[in-house]
Amino acid sequence: MQPMVLSALDMSCVGFLAQGVWTHPADRSTRMNTLDYWLDYARLLERGMFDMLFIADTIGTYDVYGGSIDAAVRGGVQLPMNDPSVVVSGMAAVTKNLGFGITGNVIYEPPYLFARRMSTLDHLTGGRVGWNIVTGILASGAKVMGRDKIVAHDERYDVADEYLELMYKLWEGCWDDDAVRFDREKHLFADPRGVHPVHHDGRYFKMEGVHPCLPSPQRTPFLFQAGASGRGKAFAATHAECVFVNGVSKESVAANVADIRRLAAAQGRNPADVLVLAGATIIVGRTDAEAREKADAYRRCADPEAVLAHAAGGLGVDLSRYPLDEPLTYQETDANRTSMEMFTRNAKRTYTPRQIAEEMALSARNLLIVGSVEHVVGELADWMAKTGVNGFNVARLIMPETLQDFVELAVPALQERGLLKREYRSGTLREKIFGAGPRLRSPHPAAMARTST
Ligand SMILES: Cc1cc2nc3c(=O)[nH]c(=O)nc-3n(C[C@H](O)[C@H](O)[C@H](O)COP(=O)(O)O)c2cc1C
Repeated sequence: MQPMVLSALDMSCVGFLAQGVWTHPADRSTRMNTLDYWLDYARLLERGMFDMLFIADTIGTYDVYGGSIDAAVRGGVQLPMNDPSVVVSGMAAVTKNLGFGITGNVIYEPPYLFARRMSTLDHLTGGRVGWNIVTGILASGAKVMGRDKIVAHDERYDVADEYLELMYKLWEGCWDDDAVRFDREKHLFADPRGVHPVHHDGRYFKMEGVHPCLPSPQRTPFLFQAGASGRGKAFAATHAECVFVNGVSKESVAANVADIRRLAAAQGRNPADVLVLAGATIIVGRTDAEAREKADAYRRCADPEAVLAHAAGGLGVDLSRYPLDEPLTYQETDANRTSMEMFTRNAKRTYTPRQIAEEMALSARNLLIVGSVEHVVGELADWMAKTGVNGFNVARLIMPETLQDFVELAVPALQERGLLKREYRSGTLREKIFGAGPRLRSPHPAAMARTST
């Protein structure tokens, strides 16, 4: 079995996936406004041989529950929320190998500015930056961005396809590798013949001009994506190098993984070039009893109203209007369709709001593993063997306690079993993960946009 890819999943907020646990005495997530918090975080992850820290982001607020932001404000549900990219250069300065997956929304980020921000970070991190391509699920996100309503679910991916086409033109096609001369004698910084302005006039975007940054180590940042609907998977199969999935059953995750790989192969891509990581919340102790005790203490801090406010935003359904014990039925919304399916027609049983509040309390829709080192290591190995995932996206729970436990207890055991690397590979994030070159290769559409190689 290939060593696992290990990502830490977080957000620049207090109430991320486990609502209410910030009240636990050990939790330090309320320090997320300080740079030290992030620098310590990055150091801890690198000590634990994590490949990357993936920073999710939401535009808008969770205002579906009760038709207002009150529950989200009371519970700190992804509000406050800081920009995901600003902390990255600081973290890069205190690490050598850790990668950084930054979320960028294709509906709201102007392509030119976003391409520039990512290239700048790719330079400053020495090629350790990745982009989690998202389309946004919150109707409130449309409003804060000055729009009347959210773009319809499948159309968001049409926008995303065109956005990527434009980004590839900027990152890959604008500057030839040999355009930059740095020739002091000839007073020639760069050769204009090697710089190709972009002319893009599409259905959703229009731009004329040149990408303002020099080609960065990876050019196109490492591409992540997490859409799991039919349209989302088709998009991932075309563009993503790493797909995030969540789910609590090995059967459903295995089917999802197989589907993503089949779709990638149908696009002419090598399915091995598309990694899949499963979301996991892990509570590890020296014994099963110790881990269970910790989990019980965390669970006592959970805030059911905040959990439902989070779930309601994701589903696009006001769960406050549902009787607590009435099963949720499938409704087509423009929010997170994958979540809706997981709780309704793709579920083996029904889910009431009360059950959603209980089951999502610590791990949202991620798998939850609680137990001794042996149990956790065995479960992670079993998930990889039975589902075909390449690794895990380990979600923040109590910051930093759960992560420290994982690094101190589980990581050495994973290494002993040959499940986790002992050293990083050299090079960019793409090279560290795949071992091949720093840039995307044909038949990936990014490589097709390159003019010089
Ligand atoms: C691990 C993971 C991380 C995600 N991170 C974000 C995020 O940071 N911002 C966001 O708007 N959506 C995020 N999503 C949501 C996805 O981008 C996508 O909207 C969702 O999985 C629904 O997919 P679908 O639209 O194909 O149904 C994430 C999903 C997963 C599984």
